[in-house]
Amino acid sequence: MKIVVSGTGYVGLVTAVCLAEKGNEVVCYDVVKEKIDMLNSGKSPIYEEHLEELMHKNKERITYTDDKVIAYKDADVIFIGVGTPEKKDGSANLEYIYKVADDIAENITKDCLVVIKSTVPIGTNYKVEKYITNKLDGKHKIEIASNPEFLAQGTAVRDTLEAQRIVIGTHSKWAEDTLKSIYSKFDKSVLVSTDINSAEMIKYASNDFLALKISYINEIANLCELVGANIEDVSKGMGLDSRIGNKFLNAGIGYGGSCFPKDTKALHTLANNLYDYELKTVKAAIEVNANQKLKLIRKARKYYETFNGLNVAVLGLAFKPNTDDLREAPSLVNIPIILEDGAHIKAYDPIGEKNYKKIYPTEIEYCNSVEETLKDTDICFIFTEWDFVKNMDINLYSKLMKKPIIIDGRNCYKLEDVKNKNILYESIGRDTINNL
Ligand SMILES: NC(=O)c1ccc[n+]([C@@H]2O[C@H](COP(=O)([O-])OP(=O)(O)OC[C@H]3O[C@@H](n4cnc5c(N)ncnc54)[C@H](O)[C@@H]3O)[C@@H](O)[C@H]2O)c1
Repeated sequence: MKIVVSGTGYVGLVTAVCLAEKGNEVVCYDVVKEKIDMLNSGKSPIYEEHLEELMHKNKERITYTDDKVIAYKDADVIFIGVGTPEKKDGSANLEYIYKVADDIAENITKDCLVVIKSTVPIGTNYKVEKYITNKLDGKHKIEIASNPEFLAQGTAVRDTLEAQRIVIGTHSKWAEDTLKSIYSKFDKSVLVSTDINSAEMIKYASNDFLALKISYINEIANLCELVGANIEDVSKGMGLDSRIGNKFLNAGIGYGGSCFPKDTKALHTLANNLYDYELKTVKAAIEVNANQKLKLIRKARKYYETFNGLNVAVLGLAFKPNTDDLREAPSLVNIPIILEDGAHIKAYDPIGEKNYKKIYPTEIEYCNSVEETLKDTDICFIFTEWDFVKNMDINLYSKLMKKPIIIDGRNCYKLEDVKNKNILYESIGRDTINNL
């Protein structure tokens, strides 16, 4: 069986490599030649733990090409993993999906199954099936299936090889059986087989629920600050209830990344625009998150009305640890404000730096260590809970900074570990420690 994966981003490449790891022959197709050249030289264009290792291990079973004729020729199953970014009005931009649909219609040489892995608004799979079928004009037959992806960046390979669930939405036994046979080797995963619209909905409903959970705990954290409660204890107490669960209860400066922000807006917009139905809970999650991203700046303004002329340390740039992805990262909301004020920023993020330099090539001083970053600074912002931040010697702040004011957006330290240090420490939903 020839499996083609279209798009070699976080979803496409990880899917392809994991399918190869399970013994399949896979062809990866991407329109960006530089990515294909990198992949052919054995390097991954994205950072994901174990990804390069598995690329090498399975190199006999994976080919990479930017030639769509070669890619789609003789394809039996085509997985689509291209981006579906946010449009200005909040809806999902499907232009990349339809470009792949055009390529499929123009290049397939036999009947095949087209599987959409990208997150697409409910109803899209059927529309794409109709679109390709019309373009094929009877030359070949295709059938569509929805197979939404649930991996999390940072743990994408493990999440795929040991997925908690695999959702397939099909409208024929043939499509269902084909996908079941492909996924039969993923024996640790529960397979959920539904109709196509339900599969599309499971993806949005899951992401939006997680976003809601984050916004909820962030609001509770904000209230904890006002009433004098400790959000960590509150989260722990809540999370022990199995009906609630202890995941996604870490308060912070809001969610970012390539999925939650756009998927909350896309579902909200779809409900509103197409069905005149307001998803009030999702709307609230979006609003709370936008506000939360500015929380650190507001806290810092208590100590400096302006950052003009200050040396500002920044630890962590990526939207979460173990990824180089910056999409919707809270740092991207805060750093422009600090720069606009006229501060000098010294930043450290060993993995995120490369992509940040594409946005801010010269405006920021990129450092190679925590020590270099903190030296002679007037305030430090923590935007990402990298292990290097959580595990560093907390004494470095007072030893190296001109004024050790730490504004921690990810609650990296236990309050008992900072309470005897010569620092001013602000975090989320907890008391301020001021030993200056
Ligand atoms: N990133 C995640 O954590 C994640 C998790 C679950 C679902 N998703 C969803 O999966 C989809 C892909 O997300 P991603 O983060 O992997 O995107 P990405 O931006 O990392 O990758 C998309 C890739 O598609 C390529 N591409 C664009 N047009 C193409 C075309 N016509 N033919 C072939 N390749 C083309 C791009 O060059 C790029 O390499 C999105 O719908 C997203 O919402 C993402």
